[in-house]
Amino acid sequence: MAGPKPLLLTPLTIRGVTLPNRIAVSPMAMYRARDGFPTPFHLVHYGKFALGGAGLVYVEEAAVTRTGRITNGCLGLWDDAHAEALAPVAAFLSAEGSIPAIQINHGGRKASAQRAWEGNGRLTPENLANGDESWQPLGPSENPFSEGWPVPRPLDRDDMDTIREAFVAAALRAVRAGFRIVEIHMAHGYLLQSFLSPLANARSDAYGGSRENRMRFPLEVARAIRGALPSDVPVFARISAVDWIEGGWEMDDSVALARALGEAGIDLVDCSSGGNLLKGATNTNLSRSPGYQAPFARRLREEAGVFTQAVGLIRTPHLAEELLQAGSADIIAVGRQMLYDPFWAHHATEALGETGAFEAWPRPYAWWLEKWAAGLRSSGEAPAA
Ligand SMILES: Cc1cc2nc3c(=O)[nH]c(=O)nc-3n(C[C@H](O)[C@H](O)[C@H](O)COP(=O)(O)O)c2cc1C
Repeated sequence: MAGPKPLLLTPLTIRGVTLPNRIAVSPMAMYRARDGFPTPFHLVHYGKFALGGAGLVYVEEAAVTRTGRITNGCLGLWDDAHAEALAPVAAFLSAEGSIPAIQINHGGRKASAQRAWEGNGRLTPENLANGDESWQPLGPSENPFSEGWPVPRPLDRDDMDTIREAFVAAALRAVRAGFRIVEIHMAHGYLLQSFLSPLANARSDAYGGSRENRMRFPLEVARAIRGALPSDVPVFARISAVDWIEGGWEMDDSVALARALGEAGIDLVDCSSGGNLLKGATNTNLSRSPGYQAPFARRLREEAGVFTQAVGLIRTPHLAEELLQAGSADIIAVGRQMLYDPFWAHHATEALGETGAFEAWPRPYAWWLEKWAAGLRSSGEAPAA
């Protein structure tokens, strides 16, 4: 007799959105955009995850202003034309049964950098000769991201108002483009996280110093977005639960932030970590084992009463299911393993012993694969080679 349906494959409703399963494709920047516009690459890249059965597909971080791009290849949402260009991606994901989400970001002091595979560092004369442009990074204060990086221009009150409104406008454009969930990027050393972390924020006004002050601007952005979006649209926030650097942002800080985010109407906290560098600092306890960030998600879920998403080296369906069963998270996000196997969600269904595993596959595939798999089995082979 079949056992209870695995939690990983059980729907989850948040506000007006029901995910068909709890498998998310983690936001992953592809650096293939031009002037913030997607290319056919994006439709194919994201579309295949919907065909692959993921309940939730995050489109990578999209910049809320032109100078909020991390690199010249980042997606944008600072203009209505970007939203129009992204609409077919959202429409395709929806049509194939996934919930389309998008992450919105400002690169802050890490902006104007190389694409990941070019080195992830400062733009070189060669990059500029090849057509890239550079721009002035912004930050909470003048602390550069790392040695040799440009000194960011500290935001004044007008800049903060402008950027907050740019986040709101980008979120509204995302919804108009057909995205059902908006995730605010508050992690990885980008603008909002750099306000949170004492390693990056040296302000002496109401936005620096105490934890409460450092949380003020990110919370203003979160409240403004929540207030502007329809109430049936979930708003999530990705945070760096810890900086992994002595003297940096710690788990107790994340508990306080997650509670405040929950009070601001943010539905889910997506628990990543890291992203800041500090010369001469020691990394605390940085061990990257399977599910290494899931304990962060669990603590926030328990102590802040928000939905959480766990991410980070969750490669097998069994680990994903175990984490959900243990109450560590409500959604499991898979990153690199999805690049390796875009059909991970369908393979997870099979691996977790669900019968009729091909039912959820696109019909034109399933019709063939059912017969193909039956044939393989009858000759003693398995579909998974
Ligand atoms: C190519 C690539 C691009 C990424 N871009 C983003 C991004 O746009 N936003 C974000 O929050 N995290 C980004 N990340 C981090 C992933 O979302 C994820 O948290 C990380 O890869 C750990 O999960 P994994 O072990 O399943 O890959 C990126 C990771 C990769 C590999």
